[in-house]
Amino acid sequence: MFDSVENRINQLRDEIIKHDYSYYVLNDPTISDYQYDLLFKELEKLEFENPHLITDFSPTQRVGKDLTKNFPSHQHQFQMLSLSNTYSEEELYDFDRRVKDNLSADEKIEYVVEYKIDGASVSLTYLNGNLQVAATRGDGITGETVTQNIKTIKSVPLQINKLSNNNYDLTNFEVRGEVYIEIEDFKKLNQQREIEGEKLFANPRNSAAGTMKLQDSQVVAQRPLKLFLYSLLSRQAQFNTHSENLELLRLLGFRVNQDYKVCKSINEVIEICKEFERKRESLPFEVDGVVIKVNSIKQQNILGTIAKSPRWATAFKFKAKQSVTKLNKITWQVGRTGAVSPVAELEPVFLAGSTISRATLHNFDEIKRKDIREGDKVVIEKGGDVIPKIISVVAEEREKKSKEYEAPLACPECGTKLFQPENEVAFYCDNFECPAQIRGRLEHFASRGSMDIEGLGESLIDLFVSHNYLKTVADIYKLKNFKNELIKIERLGKKSIDNLLEAIEKSKAQPFSKVLFALGIRYVGATVSKNLTENFSSIDELSKATEEKILEIHEIGPSISKSVIKYFSDENNKKLIEELKSFGLNFSAKKILVEDNFFKGKSFVLTGSLETMTREEAGEKINSLGGKISSSVSKNTDYLIAGEAAGSKLAKAQSLGVKILNESEFITHLKKI
Ligand code: IVH
Repeated sequence: MFDSVENRINQLRDEIIKHDYSYYVLNDPTISDYQYDLLFKELEKLEFENPHLITDFSPTQRVGKDLTKNFPSHQHQFQMLSLSNTYSEEELYDFDRRVKDNLSADEKIEYVVEYKIDGASVSLTYLNGNLQVAATRGDGITGETVTQNIKTIKSVPLQINKLSNNNYDLTNFEVRGEVYIEIEDFKKLNQQREIEGEKLFANPRNSAAGTMKLQDSQVVAQRPLKLFLYSLLSRQAQFNTHSENLELLRLLGFRVNQDYKVCKSINEVIEICKEFERKRESLPFEVDGVVIKVNSIKQQNILGTIAKSPRWATAFKFKAKQSVTKLNKITWQVGRTGAVSPVAELEPVFLAGSTISRATLHNFDEIKRKDIREGDKVVIEKGGDVIPKIISVVAEEREKKSKEYEAPLACPECGTKLFQPENEVAFYCDNFECPAQIRGRLEHFASRGSMDIEGLGESLIDLFVSHNYLKTVADIYKLKNFKNELIKIERLGKKSIDNLLEAIEKSKAQPFSKVLFALGIRYVGATVSKNLTENFSSIDELSKATEEKILEIHEIGPSISKSVIKYFSDENNKKLIEELKSFGLNFSAKKILVEDNFFKGKSFVLTGSLETMTREEAGEKINSLGGKISSSVSKNTDYLIAGEAAGSKLAKAQSLGVKILNESEFITHLKKI
């Protein structure tokens, strides 16, 4: 009896796995849903009655029962690289030339062209044929373990197809791919979220990436995650070509996008890029371009990688997607400095992964130049993450009665007459008390790059301003006196007020440079603030400095120095600073003694984009360790830290013989401390 139950269980598992493969990988179902459900239920029942026979790899075990409390880090066996980008035929020819320059002349080169899926990348490790770990990309070296969540994707084999005949040693390998959500599924998901009052996802990519990091795999299992695999890596096996690997992946049981082409020349690659771009609209998922890869693995190895991108592959980015919609109205938004900028209120339209109902119009000059009028049909464009913009007007469809748009005369928030400074395109509201400016100043002050007061965002600020608790940034530090009243405000409770007040207290520890930035002095951004606080050790010193003295500082020009002088000559600002001082904010730079380390006393330049942190964050780390950051490379530079797509600074550093660190070398030095 026991033996036959076990046999039946194994038989059911094999059958279900076979049907899953046909349905999810080949897109070619072999039985009806009803028949499939019967098999699945029978297996569940037998496993329930015989729990000792359950194995991790049974199809019933895709959804975990426990919450993942945290996602342990996972060291990738092979670094997860990123791709260089190309945007034109010329750049593709350049790529081809670089490939040829690095291979001997008699090498025949083939390229594979694939879609670049716009999702989130994952790496799956299989040991002895079993799915061991699934991890996010992370910084490319270390990712987060999300095995439970990836197992819910039915196309992912929990065990590879052992019957696939191949000559490779596949006892230990990694496969890489892109997790994504199809456009229609994404729309449905957001509709559902809207009904349930949950925050909407900005686009399919965010919804896929967000889902991958959910703690509850039962929720993940409800989400329509899909996965395409595009890479197979192993230290044991000597693979031949990328296209053969794609075939092999499919034989092993993985889902591979069949829309790829092997090309014999760069001209053919260019033709295929064009064809793939034309076909893009009919795809059920978002793509942001194609990836072009050298087919021969031997050649890939010769070509190697530079910085964090392989020399043997590049991405060809498609043009931004465009769409036509109606411009219902032009509204004006008032920023914290009083600058008033136009916003296009559009008839909602779905474009490049999200519904768009607003677009930037930059300034009134742009409206005039493009003769944009309310009621016009307009062409809008969105590239990647960028805010959509209006490209042009569909002139033929303009209504006869439409009138040229006229510049606003008064502030939409407070009615103050607007003015336009000489040589500026923007209009300004110069009422310091304008509610929009008050809110803007408070938001800037509390934001992450400034005082970093967690929880004090736009909506809470609106609420406190409307209840008259906040007017100046100093009022933030008085909120604790009204604790009992605040708790009673609708939506807020004791816990959230306690957390907020704690975050406010914590912000008092922000360094002088952040406090100076938080004040919102015109032209004094985060970098200028740092620069100023490195040269003036306290606010008193800075406020007394002459314009000439400020101008002496490297990279500080007249508009900044004038603005600083103007700020400190205003009595209200002086009063505000005194008030903030009384609350204990840092208005002087503490000289911190740093122990000897690799960075101390050396001069660094940062260039290109880093994967694990922003350049600003890297600069802050180096500063905190006693190193100095300069913006340009000279012979006095000790090290250039070159991220992805480093350009002229890298070339200059090379020509001056300045030592160069890539990101992982930089991180290694950081880790040694
Ligand atoms: S190849 C060295 N192929 O694009 C090879 N990547 O910057 C690197 N992506 O995060 C990846 N579709 O997740 C490759 N067909 C494809 C891809 C693809 C999407 C993503 C990948 C990575 C990014 C590359």
